[in-house]
Amino acid sequence: MSCAAFIQQQVEEIRKTVGDGLAINALSGGVDSSVCTALGHRALGKRLKTLFVDNAIMREGEPQAVVAAFRKLGIPVTLVDARAEFLGALKGLTDPEQKRQAITDTFYAKVFGRLVRESGAKFLIHGTILTDIEETVAGIKRQHNILTQLGIKTEEAYGYTLVEPLKTLRKDGVRKVAKALGLPASIANRMPFPGPALATRIVGEVTGERLDLVRKATAIVEEELKTAKVFQYFATLLTDKATGIRNNRREFGDIIVVRCVNSVDAREATATRLPWPKLERICRRIVALPGVNRCVYDLTPKPPATIEYV
Ligand code: XMP
Repeated sequence: MSCAAFIQQQVEEIRKTVGDGLAINALSGGVDSSVCTALGHRALGKRLKTLFVDNAIMREGEPQAVVAAFRKLGIPVTLVDARAEFLGALKGLTDPEQKRQAITDTFYAKVFGRLVRESGAKFLIHGTILTDIEETVAGIKRQHNILTQLGIKTEEAYGYTLVEPLKTLRKDGVRKVAKALGLPASIANRMPFPGPALATRIVGEVTGERLDLVRKATAIVEEELKTAKVFQYFATLLTDKATGIRNNRREFGDIIVVRCVNSVDAREATATRLPWPKLERICRRIVALPGVNRCVYDLTPKPPATIEYV
C-alpha cells in the first residue's frame, strides 16, 4: 500500500472510531508519536488534544523545540510541566529497572491518567508499532506502551479506548509515512532516543544536578556529531569518580562516557571509528564542564555490552 493510501485509510479509521467524540495523545517528539499527532490532527482537527509532558529528563530545550515544531505545522500542543512529580518519583532510586518502572508508573498511573480524565476524551491515540507488539508478545522486552496485546482492557482499567494507527508498521514504514505527512526531516529521521530519556544516561540516582550535567554533555556530543551518519550517539554519567587536577589542586571528579555506535536495528552494535581530532575536541569540551575531569570513549560492541548503560 502506498503511504498516501495508508494515511487516507488511517484518517478514515480514526474518524470512524472517534465519531463526534474527543481524542487525546501524548507527543514525545519521537517519530511514532509525531506521526500519530499528525494523523490524529488531520482526522479530527481541534477534537484532538495533544499534550507534551515535560518529565524533567528530556534533553536541552527539547520540550520547547518539539512544541514549536508542531506549532509551525499548525498543530497546537499543550506543554504540561510534570518535572517535580517525575523527580520526586525517581528520588533515591539507583536500580535501572526500578527507575524505568517509576517513570512508567508516574506517566500512566499519575500524570497522563489524570490529564486524560480531566480532558473528557474517551479515545487515546497511541504510537504502538509492530515491533513493540512482537517483542512484548515474545517476552523479549516489555515495552512501556503495550496494553491491549497483553490483555489489558483499557476501557475498564482506564476509561478510554486505544486507537493504534501504526500497529502494522515497522520503524522504516513510520519514517516514510512521516515524510508523506510533511513532517520535517529532523522528526522523520530522528535518532532513537529512549522512552526513559536521560534517566538511561545516568548510572545511579537521577537528581536535578546530575541531570543538568548529563544534559550539557549530551548537547556537546550531539552538536559535535550531528553530521555523523551513525545509528546513535550520546553521553552517560557514571557514579564512579576519578582523581584529577584543576587549578593546581587535586579534584575527585565525575566521569562522562561518550558512546557512538553503528547498528541496523539496535540488536547488535559496534563502536564507530571516529576521527581522533573529533574525539579530542569532544573530550576537551566535556572536561570543561564543572566537576568533570575525565571523559572516555567506549569501544565495546553489543553484545556483550548494551548500547545504553542503564
Ligand atoms: P540497549 O541499551 O538495550 O538499547 O542496547 C537498544 C536501543 O533501545 C533504546 N533503549 C530504550 N528505548 N525504552 C526505550 O524506549 C527503554 O527503556 C530503552 N532502553 C534502551 C536504546 O537507546 C537503543 O537505541
